[in-house]
Amino acid sequence: MKVCVYPGSFDPITYGHLDIIERASKIFDKLIVAVVCNPNKTSAFTLEERVELIKECTKDFNNIEVDSFCGLLIDYLRQKEATVVVKGLRVIADFEYEFQMALLNKNLDPDIETVFMMTNNKYSYISSSMVKEIARFGANIDEFVPIIIKQKVLGKLTAGKE
Ligand code: PNS
Repeated sequence: MKVCVYPGSFDPITYGHLDIIERASKIFDKLIVAVVCNPNKTSAFTLEERVELIKECTKDFNNIEVDSFCGLLIDYLRQKEATVVVKGLRVIADFEYEFQMALLNKNLDPDIETVFMMTNNKYSYISSSMVKEIARFGANIDEFVPIIIKQKVLGKLTAGKE
């Protein structure tokens, strides 16, 4: 069984991520969407919240597991008996960083392959950070995230004002 891991911060999940999830789930027998805990990054949503939101948005897929981990990606892959990592590429600027990570992971474990999918051009310019930023200034984010995510993002903004 070909198991693939889609790692990321997903703070929060966007239609760009969901596009990669949908396409990767058709290629691999099982896709694990893994929220990575990163102590160096401040996030709007807790790890648990991000996992729950991804579960909600992917509940109609039957070969997807949603999980979280702390530590090295290659150790997590071994633990899950996965050999492939999938990443989305939006713009050229993503390439350099992703290339570096793919080479580093290959060096740490030569059995791991990283595959890249070009993001649907509808979503090539969006990121979780930008969605949060424009929402903070009152812009509509319907085009970029499912309704449940929109509600949670707006809820966080309201909570921040209390
Ligand atoms: O969504 P992001 O923040 O761009 O995802 C980056 C992420 C979490 C996939 C990357 O930082 C990662 O794989 N972290 C796990 C720790 C690790 O294995 N680091 C070494 C390779 S960079």
